[in-house]
Amino acid sequence: MCGIVGAWLNQGGAEDIADVLIEGLRTLEYRGYDSSGIGVLRTDIGSSSSAENVKVARRQGRLENLEEVLKDGSLKGANVGVGHTRWATHGEPSDENAHPHTDGSNHIALVHNGIIENYLELRRELEADGVVFASETDTEVLTHLVGREYAKSGDLGGSLRASLRRVKGYYAVSVVGNMNGATELACARQGPPLCVATLENGAMLASDVLAVLPHTREVTYLVDGDLAILKPGEVVIETIAGEAGESVEREVTVIDWDTEAAGKSGYEHFMLKEIFEQSEVLGRAIHDRLLPTVGDVAFEGDGWTDPELNGIGRVQILACGTALHAGIVARYLIEGLARIPVEVDYASEYRYCDPVVSPGTLAVAISQSGETADTLAAMRLAQELGAQAMAICNVQGSTLTRDCGRTILTHAGPEIGVASTKAFTAQLIAAYLFALRLGRARGTIDETEGRKMIEELRHLRPKLEGLLTTDYSDHIRKIAKRHLDAKGFLFLGRGVNYPIALEGALKLKEISYVHAEGYAAGEMKHGPIALIEPALTTLVINTKGRVSDKVRSAIEQVKARKGPVIALGSDPLSAELGDDVIDVPTSSEWLSPILNVVPLQLFSYHFADLKGCDIDKPRNLAKSVTVE
Ligand code: M6R
Repeated sequence: MCGIVGAWLNQGGAEDIADVLIEGLRTLEYRGYDSSGIGVLRTDIGSSSSAENVKVARRQGRLENLEEVLKDGSLKGANVGVGHTRWATHGEPSDENAHPHTDGSNHIALVHNGIIENYLELRRELEADGVVFASETDTEVLTHLVGREYAKSGDLGGSLRASLRRVKGYYAVSVVGNMNGATELACARQGPPLCVATLENGAMLASDVLAVLPHTREVTYLVDGDLAILKPGEVVIETIAGEAGESVEREVTVIDWDTEAAGKSGYEHFMLKEIFEQSEVLGRAIHDRLLPTVGDVAFEGDGWTDPELNGIGRVQILACGTALHAGIVARYLIEGLARIPVEVDYASEYRYCDPVVSPGTLAVAISQSGETADTLAAMRLAQELGAQAMAICNVQGSTLTRDCGRTILTHAGPEIGVASTKAFTAQLIAAYLFALRLGRARGTIDETEGRKMIEELRHLRPKLEGLLTTDYSDHIRKIAKRHLDAKGFLFLGRGVNYPIALEGALKLKEISYVHAEGYAAGEMKHGPIALIEPALTTLVINTKGRVSDKVRSAIEQVKARKGPVIALGSDPLSAELGDDVIDVPTSSEWLSPILNVVPLQLFSYHFADLKGCDIDKPRNLAKSVTVE
């Protein structure tokens, strides 16, 4: 949902600010990729004064288009600036609508992630004041508001504060400006994420720590209502509220991700790299958490006590997209192993169903980014209604982890591919560990059973590694090729693998744009069976276990209607029925989703690749959905 970056480096350093901003935008491109731009200026050596106005370059399309424009060197030699990569909300992707926006006189350049809800009335007011707009965006309205104040006061931070107090909506915003020879760089947050960092020779801000990591590991996350003024070697944080803003202290977080992890490491796509990282993710997600001698697990930090876990009467899971599918698996695990009733809701719907939160409810938000607007809002409502809160999240320091306090970090490492893969498996592992912990505390799992569950988890890694081989991947590619002309796909699963069918279908449609539906296998006969015909492929997930006979009969029903079947899983009898077969090793049924999802991810990847789709940047999507 748009990535923003800003930096100020002392003059005389080796780095050119345009290069620093482009490098930062490259790591943020997952947040939006329909256009990009930068606005820069040069200050005098070692000072905050400049004789220049801001220079801006913007281009529709991918970052390469902007880089092409910058080859003329016209923005070289600057040392302070802001950059933006866009996911359009107001106004189609175009050069004019790309950020940064300027105030017309080029005293300021402003970038924005979010939505200004009252932009129309503000636009009318500005137009009545003689302002001529150059774009259709809500952002330009904010730019002119700031520009108008700045022209009067010559104080950029104060102008941003005054303008934001007139704005309804949510934003992460950054602005660079120069007035009467003095340069300023400021940013503010109300909603979408923003972090700031002091560098030895400068200062930086960005939507995601990934952009800052090549420069420092020590970052400060702004919280809603914060405004920061950046100068080389100094970041001052104040409140947006109040005439002059109050100075506030925010804690510094040390990020332990390495910068290597944010690269492609020789893989053609981030998605493929991230699929292949999943056995390491499993290793990290269980590291130091297993207590094999007592058949239990312990989470780092603010662990739960047994009496606290015993006090939970109901679990409410809130999540979106892939994370929601992990939440449905979590429901099967928690109900099956800990015998606590669980409800799972789309975070985007939760607020609109007038939810009832009974005493003893634990709300669990699941999110890779920890910044999904719907999930954050649903969780805040659950807390307001009296629920205790816990996050299962990949990004330490994200808004969700700060809102919830108690967090099980998933330790998947940075996930850049828009299609979530390793973050999902990491969520499944966290859910398994939490269900085990709950079951042990409540006595629904005894020590022997707990030990067995830990043993099974330890044996999972070699099985996962067996799926992450070139041979296995090539086998799936061949199957994908055979079904390339299918007019659609039905994914079926049952029990704990029903959500895996949903996830398989989501993965395929989001990166290959082919219609795919996930269904509970038992539901097929209640409607979707009408779709079955030779041109529709049905992919059936069947793990040897409690429901395998039932799932097998769904395969028979598809075959009786001449529908091609891809049989996936550890059930050997299903394999006999499938036109194509994807074998998965046996495991405990509770862990089978972690294995079954891997070939589904590979299937989507190869299918999309064979179709020539842009896998890491699927059309219309953005990785982190920070608007409602
Ligand atoms: O960051 P989150 O886990 O909260 O994101 C939730 C969804 O937006 C996300 O899972 C989305 O569905 C992905 N594109 C799935 O691949």
